[in-house]
Amino acid sequence: MKNRVLSAMRPTGRLHLGHYFGALKNWVQMQEEYDCYYLSADWHALTSDYADTSKIKDNTFEMVADWLTAGIDPDKCVIARQSGISAHSELFLILSMITPLGWLYRVPTYKEQLEQITNKDLNNYGFLGYPVLMAADILLYKANFVPVGEDQLAHLEFSREITRRFNNFYGEVLVEPQAKLTKSAKVPGIDSRKMSKSYGNSVFLGEEDDSIKEKVKNMYTDPLKIKKNDPGHPDGCVVFAFHKLFNAACGQREIECKAGSVGCVLCKKELVEMLSVFMKPLVQKRKDLLGDKAYLEKVLKEGTQKACAAADETMAQVRKALKF
Ligand code: TRP
Repeated sequence: MKNRVLSAMRPTGRLHLGHYFGALKNWVQMQEEYDCYYLSADWHALTSDYADTSKIKDNTFEMVADWLTAGIDPDKCVIARQSGISAHSELFLILSMITPLGWLYRVPTYKEQLEQITNKDLNNYGFLGYPVLMAADILLYKANFVPVGEDQLAHLEFSREITRRFNNFYGEVLVEPQAKLTKSAKVPGIDSRKMSKSYGNSVFLGEEDDSIKEKVKNMYTDPLKIKKNDPGHPDGCVVFAFHKLFNAACGQREIECKAGSVGCVLCKKELVEMLSVFMKPLVQKRKDLLGDKAYLEKVLKEGTQKACAAADETMAQVRKALKF
C-alpha cells in the first residue's frame, strides 16, 4: 500500500513560477511514488472572496489547466473539487465542535492576514475557521503526508493537534498527517519581492515570448553594477535567482558576475532564451487545455467521484466513532 498524499490550492486563477517551483514541481514528482489527492480548495477561496464569487469557477479551470500543463496526470493521481465533496463540510462541522477557540486565535497567519488584508472584511467565522476546514481536507483522506510551504506549517500543526484531540475523544480513527516541506529555491518576483499575483511581479507558467522579454528587461538587478565590467553582487539579483533555476552553469555565472566579466545585458539575454525554451511546450499545452473546458470538467468530475468514495469511507468510521 502506497502512502497517501494530499495537497490543495485555492483557485485564484493562473499560476506563476512561484507556484511551480514552490509546489507543483514537487506534486508532479510525488504522483510517481504516492497515492496523491490534489484538491481545488474552492470553499477556502470563499473565506476571502465571499462577496464576489463570480471568478471562482473559471479560476478553477485555469488552475487545473496549469496543473496539467506542469505535468500533473489525472491517470496517476486524483484531481478533485472540494465543493463537490460534501463530506468536507461534515467533517469540518464535527471538528469545529472540538476546536478550542484559543487554538484558532493563536495561528500566526490569522492575525497577520487580518492586519495585512485591509480591502476585505475578514472578521468572519469562516475565516477564523480556515485551519479547521483545511484539517478536514487532510483528515478525510487519512493523508500520511502533506506537501506544504513554510507559510502553511502552522496550519498543518493545527491539523495534527486536532487529530490527537479527536482520537482521544472517540478512538483512533484519524491519521496524524506529516508535513513534507518543499525544499525549493525561493522564486522572487521581477521586482525582487516575493512572487505574488497581487504584486503584479509574476512570471506565469506558459508565458509567451514577448512578455518574457519585457519581464526580464524589467527585472531588478544589482544597483551597484552600472557598467558591464563593474563587479556585481548576484545575491540580491533577480536575474541571477532565475539563472539558479534555469541555468545548469549558474555557478560559473556567479563567478563571472562577481568578477565583472559579464554584464547584465548579456545575462538577461541568456535568461530570456532559457525561459523561452522552458516555456515553449507549456504555452501550447496550456492553450490546448484551456480550449477544451469539457475535458477539464471531465477530469474534475471523475476525480471528485473518486475522492467522494475515499471520503465516504472515512466518514462512515467517523460517524460510528461518534456513536451516530
Ligand atoms: N491553505 C492552503 C493554501 O492557502 C490551501 C489548502 C487548503 C491546503 N486545504 C489544504 C493545503 C489541505 C494543503 C492541504 O495554500
